[in-house]
Amino acid sequence: MSVHSSANIKRITTHILQEMKNRGERISMLTAYDYSMARIVDDAGIDIILVGDSASNVMAGHETTLPITLDQMIYHASAVVRAVKRALVVVDIPFGSYQGNSTEALRSAIRIMKESGAHSVKVEGGSEIKESVIRILSAGVPVMGHLGLTPQSIYKFGTYTVRAKEEAEATKLLEDALMLEACGCFAIVLEKIPASLAKKVAESVNIPVIGIGAGGDVDGQVLVMHDMLGITQEFKPRFLRQYADLEDVMKKAFLQYIEDVKSKDFPNESESY
Ligand code: KIV
Repeated sequence: MSVHSSANIKRITTHILQEMKNRGERISMLTAYDYSMARIVDDAGIDIILVGDSASNVMAGHETTLPITLDQMIYHASAVVRAVKRALVVVDIPFGSYQGNSTEALRSAIRIMKESGAHSVKVEGGSEIKESVIRILSAGVPVMGHLGLTPQSIYKFGTYTVRAKEEAEATKLLEDALMLEACGCFAIVLEKIPASLAKKVAESVNIPVIGIGAGGDVDGQVLVMHDMLGITQEFKPRFLRQYADLEDVMKKAFLQYIEDVKSKDFPNESESY
């Protein structure tokens, strides 16, 4: 079932996302990393597609998001962009491609925009990357921030547990959110923080706040597509609602195919020339 015909598609822009927050309409966001999945999720009517550096985990099998390269992110992003007719496409600038200095950050953002055709970029962190955020924005590239659990810093945190439970970290997170808004970011992702803090941030900034493990009192939600489809079976954090068990569906199809080939049932006469 297609939710919209291509004739009446209105592309989602950062301006439309802002209007959605203003009128209290929730924003839906999922990750995608390839043409086929992006086509399906876009056709379903998702508002934002994130080409997340979680591709490092779910597409490449790495333990963390650190190994994925800028070239690899551009490859994934360009495949997604080719499929998308409606959603706003956001691309993670990967670890090591913007933390060095603002010139490097700008160069990476421009490569993503030019070579993939994406609509915006996402970066992790607050005051530490302020200069880079300003520099990217100055080139006219929309920037989404990402605070709370920032997986590119996993070796600094040492664990994937809930962030900003202590007052000092919560205060810095709120200050960082206000700073990102003041710089001109169009939205902020909050990952794995107490729901009460996420609510406070969403009420304190005017730009949309998208949560993952941040409770329901924010302006939108994001999940990793492979997690919500039940493809990454071993990853079941409390915040994850699983909408399908695709591993089971796919395995059954693969088993049946193998059986049909072995038993010479496939192909039959009508499947032959
Ligand atoms: O890379 C990613 O998928 C993300 C989401 C978890 C927000 O950054």
